[in-house]
Amino acid sequence: MEKKNIDWANLGFGYQETDKRFVANYKDGAWDEGALVSDAKVVINECAGVLQYAQTCFEGMKAYTTEDGHIVTFRPDLNAQRMEDTCKRLEMPVFPKERFVQAVVDTVAANEAYVPPYGSGATLYIRPYMFASSAVIGVKPADEYQFRVFTTPVGPYFKGGVKPLTIKVSDFDRAAPHGTGHIKAGLNYAMSLHAIVTAHAEGYDENMYLDAATRTNVEETGGANFLFVTKDNKVVTPKSDSILPSITRRSLMVVAKDYLGLEVEEREIPFEEVKEFAECGLCGTAAVISPVGKIVDHGNEIAFPSGMSQMGPVTQKLYDTLTGIQMGRIEAPAGWIHVIK
Ligand code: PLP
Ligand code: COI
Repeated sequence: MEKKNIDWANLGFGYQETDKRFVANYKDGAWDEGALVSDAKVVINECAGVLQYAQTCFEGMKAYTTEDGHIVTFRPDLNAQRMEDTCKRLEMPVFPKERFVQAVVDTVAANEAYVPPYGSGATLYIRPYMFASSAVIGVKPADEYQFRVFTTPVGPYFKGGVKPLTIKVSDFDRAAPHGTGHIKAGLNYAMSLHAIVTAHAEGYDENMYLDAATRTNVEETGGANFLFVTKDNKVVTPKSDSILPSITRRSLMVVAKDYLGLEVEEREIPFEEVKEFAECGLCGTAAVISPVGKIVDHGNEIAFPSGMSQMGPVTQKLYDTLTGIQMGRIEAPAGWIHVIK
């Protein structure tokens, strides 16, 4: 398979149309067989539920080329499960988990020419998503839905790759208690846009959201969970019902404990405690692990000892081990790597 002529090393995190995408339609209470199609355009009614009441959700995954030349994806069963959880909360039909994984595999295989080569620093981002396609004007769930998967080659999510980030403690809330913060609903991202545009305009890379009820505990950013490292090398991550259960974060906690022999804790993290930590990172499919150098709370700066020029030592070990597992350099726990080709 001849690869496309793409400058893999200089890709940012952007959309580039690839050859094929998977489409399945839900009508009269059932999903059709679905198919890979060439047309990237979506045609729906002007009154479709997604356009009026934001009934839409998505997942984010990546395909990797391993050291020995296979194309693999990482824990796709967990994305399938999370999309099921999301759909139930949004009154959307569930796309069966085995079919979700198969659709991802088929879409990646059909776009093999766009899967970045091993060692290029790029990956193929995979975006499964679902939306209400039939008309609704009263506020209620639609009757018809479309499930799709597209792919796009990407580089690092944050410009500058692994340069430590500066984060702003946001005045906006991301997710209400008992709301939708724990699912991957499009609406969570729509409401974060003003906050991120504001943060960028002020020179910050991202926002830290605190819990909406008390504004005392650390939650997450607009697109990644937080990981902290204590001065005695414990890996600590926030526990909250209103943050997205990141697959990267859950995997890193296993890596920290079983591969690096570190103590791990998932618990409430008061913002007050953040200044005590030695290292901080953002973790997610797009973010991988992006180191945080500084957090600014209304002019008060917390500068982590790891500094603004490189990742902290524990964050670096976590990064090397996780990406080593994903790229086939380090043996993965059973079931983590799904071979596509
Ligand atoms: N938190 C939010 C709000 C996200 O959008 C994402 C990205 O999917 C994550 C965390 C990280 O989750 P994952 O590691 O499953 O990609
Ligand atoms: C991902 O990490 O896959 C996401 O969906 C986050 C998004 C901000 C790009």
